[in-house]
Amino acid sequence: MPFAKIIGSGSALPENIVSNDVLADQLAKKGIETSDEWIFTRTGIKQRYIAADNIKTSDLATEAARKAIEDAGISADEIDLIVLATSTPDYIFPSTACLVQAKLGIKGGAAFDVQAVCSGFVYALTTADSYIRAGNAKCALVIGAETFTRILDWNDRGTCVLFGDGAGAMVLKVSEEPGILATQLNADGSLHTILRTEGAIHHGQVTGDPFLRMDGQAVFKKAVTSLEDSALKVCEKASIRPEDIDWMVPHQANVRIINSLGRKLGIPEEKVVVTVDKHANTSAASVPLAFDVAYKDGRIKEGQTILLQGVGGGFTWGSVLVKL
Ligand code: ACO
Repeated sequence: MPFAKIIGSGSALPENIVSNDVLADQLAKKGIETSDEWIFTRTGIKQRYIAADNIKTSDLATEAARKAIEDAGISADEIDLIVLATSTPDYIFPSTACLVQAKLGIKGGAAFDVQAVCSGFVYALTTADSYIRAGNAKCALVIGAETFTRILDWNDRGTCVLFGDGAGAMVLKVSEEPGILATQLNADGSLHTILRTEGAIHHGQVTGDPFLRMDGQAVFKKAVTSLEDSALKVCEKASIRPEDIDWMVPHQANVRIINSLGRKLGIPEEKVVVTVDKHANTSAASVPLAFDVAYKDGRIKEGQTILLQGVGGGFTWGSVLVKL
């Protein structure tokens, strides 16, 4: 059976950077108290990128995709599969993947969205890997893209300080050599209430609560235990010891979750990519954005073994182990 190999990476961030201090000043005008000190000590976040109102998820996704295609050195026509992970699509339908396909001028092949919130990118990567390994695609564009700040309640200081906007993309190509070594996905729908956005459209009216709501402590505990379990399972599948991993690229929600996970797995901090300080939590975009930063600055190199991990609403979590 062939493998799927990552041959290109790209990312995109909106222009507008909002530091914790600026956000705290903006919230103070509404009578909501927060501070850089509170946000940073609990999460590791220093700033986030916030998209202007005229920027859609598909715009950020297309920019990241163009850079990944250029990095891969392929022509966009070679792409026969687009899998895009988002919880903040441009529309209910058509899918954001189809909109990106049109913006890239690609005709033919399959294009669809997957929705697994902050686990979205590892779900999308696993889907594309399965298509390629089964012979159903040769060259896939996998994207995680969000305008997550659009679903935040800016009156809820417990959540509005945590998130940002952005996009990351990878190009996968069929290969005789590995490639994606192993994947491991999970969901526990009984935990759907701990992280949710329950708004919907019924007969032309928005019903329910259209803002993100979270039980932060429940999410924290579940994130650490589930990611540890998934990391061990994916390593076992690929017959690789956690200590042999060159880089861990976990979902960027909170530096305390990341550090706690690294300690449990025995992976030292210097092998863990952290971008939550600059990007905040960009949901499905966080893993490919973090990967792209470390790949472009030369830390992540060809031949290395990389563990990518996502966790989020659903509740969902999973891992992808990659030989670059
Ligand atoms: N600024 C100042 N004070 C705040 C803020 C804020 N932005 N937000 C909450 N507080 C206050 C609360 O009102 C509360 O005050 P009280 O004691 O007077 O009632 C106090 O701080 C403690 O609130 P908690 O919610 O208990 O704070 P906690 O220490 O649990 O930290 C946090 C909250 C950072 C969200 C933490 O639970 C956490 O890290 N959870 C993990 C969840 C996460 O990272 N989610 C991201 C999305 S999910 C994902 O991507 C997997």
